[in-house]
Amino acid sequence: MKTKILNVLRKSDGYVSGQALCNMLGVSRTAVWKVINQLKEEGYVIEAVQNKGYHITQYPDILTSSEIMSQLTCVDTGSTTGIIREVVYYDETDSTNNEAKRAAERDNAADGTLYITESQTGGRGRRGRNWVSPAGSGIWMSLLLRPDIAPVNASMLTIVAAMAVQEAIHTVLKEDGHDAECRIKWPNDIVLNKKKVCGILTEMSAEMDYIHYVVIGMGINVNTTEFDDSIKATASSLYLETGDHLKRSRIVAAFSESFAKYYDTFVKTQNLAGLKEDYNSMLVNKGGDVKAIYADKEIVGKAIGINDEGELIIKTDEGEKIIRTGEVSVR
Ligand code: BTN
Repeated sequence: MKTKILNVLRKSDGYVSGQALCNMLGVSRTAVWKVINQLKEEGYVIEAVQNKGYHITQYPDILTSSEIMSQLTCVDTGSTTGIIREVVYYDETDSTNNEAKRAAERDNAADGTLYITESQTGGRGRRGRNWVSPAGSGIWMSLLLRPDIAPVNASMLTIVAAMAVQEAIHTVLKEDGHDAECRIKWPNDIVLNKKKVCGILTEMSAEMDYIHYVVIGMGINVNTTEFDDSIKATASSLYLETGDHLKRSRIVAAFSESFAKYYDTFVKTQNLAGLKEDYNSMLVNKGGDVKAIYADKEIVGKAIGINDEGELIIKTDEGEKIIRTGEVSVR
């Protein structure tokens, strides 16, 4: 009911009367009043005017289920848009990837469930690195999917996620009047002004021919101001690059919509043929000099873009080379 009330108030320009809320939701005035008080406690500033009703004048920067889902629900039909079907929120947890995996195995949690937290005590990055995730500074979230695709094609989901995060950040920056160009560094880092603002860690449980589940974990540095010495030179946050504190829930909602769009295209063919042109246009390394370590060999050349499988094509003096995994540095 909280999500519905928030949804109606959020989508209405003016005041909504208590009676209108009661009629819409089929609940009592006391029930509506209780929810309004809960929302106020969570930090929403709600004006209540006699004979007019309720109106939200300020939204807190929180990541609760109601805050996110109320942006993804259609007032008239009650149906939700985007890939996220349900949000599970924690004030603190070890890692949202761990939460998603535990829920998938223990509770058979459903496709489209998003696990999100204010802070992680054991955030994990790629290649066994840790991911520092303090409260209030970022979006630490993991999307649980149960895709009906071949396990060999699952690694491409990380490309789909990168495209969705890039588009979500781009959309919210634009809404806020910024023209900063947010791009993708192959395969799935999101960079702003060439500095990393988001990393993605995708994990999977599968048999040879069947996927039990995939967890796509995303860490977006939104308000972060301090970084470990080891990453200081290459990492940043949306706040540091724009000077603005963006609403984190807005980015999550935009991600949900963008992911659904790209995912739809991907699952039809189980390859990136329909997405690679868009992906390549978002690629920060495109046409630039890059250096990659692949199969213990150093490959130096110009990045052309990805192929249908999401592998990076590099033009070298000895012809085109294909990089399947690893990291690429811009020279
Ligand atoms: C990277 O190394 O670039 C990937 C970082 C992924 C971090 C996110 S934060 C949410 C989710 N939970 C984790 O423990 N890791 C991912």
